[in-house]
Amino acid sequence: MYKEVISPILDKLDSETWHRRAREALHWTEISPLSLKILEQFTYRRKRFTDERLKVCLGGVEFDNPLVVGGGWDKVGRAVKGLWQLGFAGVEVGSILVYPQPGNPKPRQFMLGSGVSLNRLGFNSPGVEVVARNLRTYRNSSIPIGISIGKNKDVEAEDAPEAHAIVAKKLYHDAAYFVINVSSPNTPGLRELQDKGPLTDIVQAVNQVMGEMGGRKPLFVKIAPELTNEAVNDVIKVVMDNGLIGIIAANTTVSPELKAKYGERWRDEAGGLSGDDEDFRRMTTEKVAHIYRETNGKVEIIGVGGVKDTATALGKIKAGARIVQAVTGIRGEGTTLPGRITRGLVKLMEQEGIKNINELVGSEAS
Ligand SMILES: Cc1cc2nc3c(=O)[nH]c(=O)nc-3n(C[C@H](O)[C@H](O)[C@H](O)COP(=O)(O)O)c2cc1C
Repeated sequence: MYKEVISPILDKLDSETWHRRAREALHWTEISPLSLKILEQFTYRRKRFTDERLKVCLGGVEFDNPLVVGGGWDKVGRAVKGLWQLGFAGVEVGSILVYPQPGNPKPRQFMLGSGVSLNRLGFNSPGVEVVARNLRTYRNSSIPIGISIGKNKDVEAEDAPEAHAIVAKKLYHDAAYFVINVSSPNTPGLRELQDKGPLTDIVQAVNQVMGEMGGRKPLFVKIAPELTNEAVNDVIKVVMDNGLIGIIAANTTVSPELKAKYGERWRDEAGGLSGDDEDFRRMTTEKVAHIYRETNGKVEIIGVGGVKDTATALGKIKAGARIVQAVTGIRGEGTTLPGRITRGLVKLMEQEGIKNINELVGSEAS
């Protein structure tokens, strides 16, 4: 019903507007246990699915399944419980900046084809103070919240470490884990912060502030899918040298060739492509496998890019990801997405005699 009727209608409407309405609708379901129960009726088989065999642990943080909402779906921290009720194990909120920033001129989010998106939002964020207020609601819940940190576009590269540290300090008590997002394609110069020197400075600033606040939490670096394997190896070195837990692979792609698959007019449009594109999915999965092989599984990997069903989630897990994320797939597949993926994983494990999802991590990385 969703894919046949609702999704094609949404494809014709302004993508960002509908995204915001979907987030707000989820937000309002959080007002009472009854409305959350009603929301549950929209999940696959009308029940939030859990199964002991799907539990994963990342740096001491427990997730009741390996599927988490990726950065960008809820940039403001207003739909965490609603998303959890649909079946996700957690939500990565953000990316969050120190100051409010409107982002690029609209329209700036487009559907190129079914389940494939192009966005150049440009880090629109209400700023850390507003997000901190929003997240207070979830302080007593045990839902793991990842905090994705970005930098305002007018913050100079040399001030980026301080900007990241400010957000980490303010949201320290809300975060199950932190992410340094230096891979959005829509902030000029941001991806240069993936280089060893600037990345080390940011990582050390965040580590220091976490130490002052009460101890280190799992910290990830999120990379671009276009990084060469050599550049990924540099990121791995920064991660290992500074005691980080791992890497998120990957952000959206700026590849003109991939954009042009959906019409020549998209080739030179600014922004990053994401979602159900075979080549994009492969690019991101290859990055996951490379990191896994290069580190012998010693670095934790969150795999993201084109996850839309059990097979695509499993592809990332077998390549080496302990957690997988979906963003565009939520729009493409609707509210049944998490339940279908998690039930599908259990079914497959039963067929193959696998007792725990962790056994599958990296099983096909070579
Ligand atoms: C509309 C939109 C906004 C996004 N905003 C962010 C963001 O703020 N921070 C971030 O780390 N990634 C952001 N992303 C990237 C996603 O987290 C993810 O890496 C990428 O979309 C690939 O996953 P997907 O194919 O499941 O969408 C955004 C993606 C989309 C589609």
